[in-house]
Amino acid sequence: MTGPIDTTILPPDAAGIVRAADILRAGGLVALPTETVYGLGGNACNDTAVARIFQAKGRPHFNPLIIHLPDLKTARRYARFDDTAERLASAFWPGPMTLVLPLRPDAGLSPLVTAGNDSVAIRVPEHPLAHALLAEFGGPVAAPSANPSGRVSPTSPQHVLDGLSGRIEAVLDGGACAVGVESTIIGLTGAPTLLRPGGLPAEDIEACLGAQLIRRAEGDPITAPGQLGSHYAPGAPVRLNVTAPEASELWIGFGRDCDGAALNLSPNGDLVEAAANLFHFLRRADTMTALGQTIAIAPVPMHGLGLAINDRLSRAAAPRP
Ligand code: TXA
Ligand code: MG
Repeated sequence: MTGPIDTTILPPDAAGIVRAADILRAGGLVALPTETVYGLGGNACNDTAVARIFQAKGRPHFNPLIIHLPDLKTARRYARFDDTAERLASAFWPGPMTLVLPLRPDAGLSPLVTAGNDSVAIRVPEHPLAHALLAEFGGPVAAPSANPSGRVSPTSPQHVLDGLSGRIEAVLDGGACAVGVESTIIGLTGAPTLLRPGGLPAEDIEACLGAQLIRRAEGDPITAPGQLGSHYAPGAPVRLNVTAPEASELWIGFGRDCDGAALNLSPNGDLVEAAANLFHFLRRADTMTALGQTIAIAPVPMHGLGLAINDRLSRAAAPRP
């Protein structure tokens, strides 16, 4: 695990934006202001940057993340927009609304962003600094709220520093956030569904659609945001905490002492590297196994990102419905 880093406060001007974009290109993390709350931004195509987002937040699960883009035209490169999606995006972007849409297979996003699923959450924020940074960076920025896991979302640079100082490269100083609650999330992979109430009233969205949104009861384990991503499992059976695999098994190692492993999540035992590789390796292992062959996975320690990795692995290994 790396030691603390100096967190720079970047000014809300052209120089600050260029610097923030450079940090994102180098795989670093920048907290950026949006009109809802500050986001913890990283390059959504860079596995290590996305893994570091989870590490900085101390998230025990790999919840899928929202990608942030400068406009609707760019967003069409990453997801399929049907008529309903086009209508909502045209009416409410830029603004505090996130759409969950079918992922384009050629989107090029890190699978950690989508938690290995085939849908993606997209937002076009209205904040001028967020827009300027996204335009300058020129790619998708994955950004959950910039707070440690389980704490309240930050609406000022000081809130961000209180929680994440020493864990991220920079905060782009945009002052206080105008809306102050997170975006409203609408699921459009099936009938339009309110996945999370937020900064845009659901009634406004219903008026635009001319139809009611499906509203899920609070705590619904299947559709609550963050839970949708929890069902990815390889086709092959998975066995965990394996230090001595059977000859017939395909072994995924972690750390040293894994001679003979077909793949190794991180030969040096680096949990950020392991997280960045996780979904890629589960998929690759799936293509490498013969019918009926089991994927055996070496133990991954239960600290730092190891919690999220083990959470995901235990779901992959859980009995299939
Ligand atoms: O206002 C906001 O939305 C802020 C700013 C920074 O943009 N972001 C934010 O992100 O609140 P976060 O990660 O704290 O919350 C995003 C929610 C999570 O509950 C996540 O599970 C859900 O969006 N989500 C992301 N991708 C999803 C997907 N493909 N399907 C369903 N839910 C998804
Ligand atoms: Mg949050």
